[in-house]
Amino acid sequence: MENIHPIFDKTLQRLDKQQLLNQKSIVIWMVGLSGSGKSTIAKALENELHQLGFLTQLLDGDNLRTGINNNLTFSEADRLENIRRAAEVAKIFLNAGIVTICSFISPTNQIRDLAKKIIGESDFFEVYINAPFEVCENRDVKGLYKKARAGEIKGFTGLDSPFEAPQNPSLELKTDINSLQQCTDYLAEAVLDKVRL
Ligand code: ADX
Repeated sequence: MENIHPIFDKTLQRLDKQQLLNQKSIVIWMVGLSGSGKSTIAKALENELHQLGFLTQLLDGDNLRTGINNNLTFSEADRLENIRRAAEVAKIFLNAGIVTICSFISPTNQIRDLAKKIIGESDFFEVYINAPFEVCENRDVKGLYKKARAGEIKGFTGLDSPFEAPQNPSLELKTDINSLQQCTDYLAEAVLDKVRL
């Protein structure tokens, strides 16, 4: 940090931007296995909030891995770096007053603790998109479980790379039991309270 002189306190503040947008910002962080429904629910939530007049930004693991994170693998160290960068980007949007929806597997407690630390606990709304491994494998929307079983993908989450279920999420959505619409409604209801000014 030597020779670095941040100007955080000299720029327009989050409150000024929230006022302009007539909303409060928050980071909604979706956690879950590949195929659990994170991106689908994140997209549906974003559409709903947009229609209600909120400015949103969606940050999705697969998307970020085509750009800012395109030099990262799925090793544990790179997953940590993936989430560190994603959380730093989310924090920028948060400070711009924007409702930020993040969907990343974020497989371990260490990874989620890092994201929470970067973003700040009071602005971090953790949503566990819970579907059993077998259900995600049966869905296999992207055909990745099949490849992982065939040994074509190493270190696949839940198979030969760990997934630690969140112990104390702000909200849990069971996508094997509830429909997409039910999950989205439930999430939107929880979030609306937090983003209305
Ligand atoms: S994270 O573990 O670093 O949080 P991230 O959410 O960015 O993961 O990316 C997950 C997506 O990458 C999955 O939805 C899947 O499409 C793809 N993917 C490719 N390889 C793997 C792998 N080894 N494990 C899990 N997902 C993988």
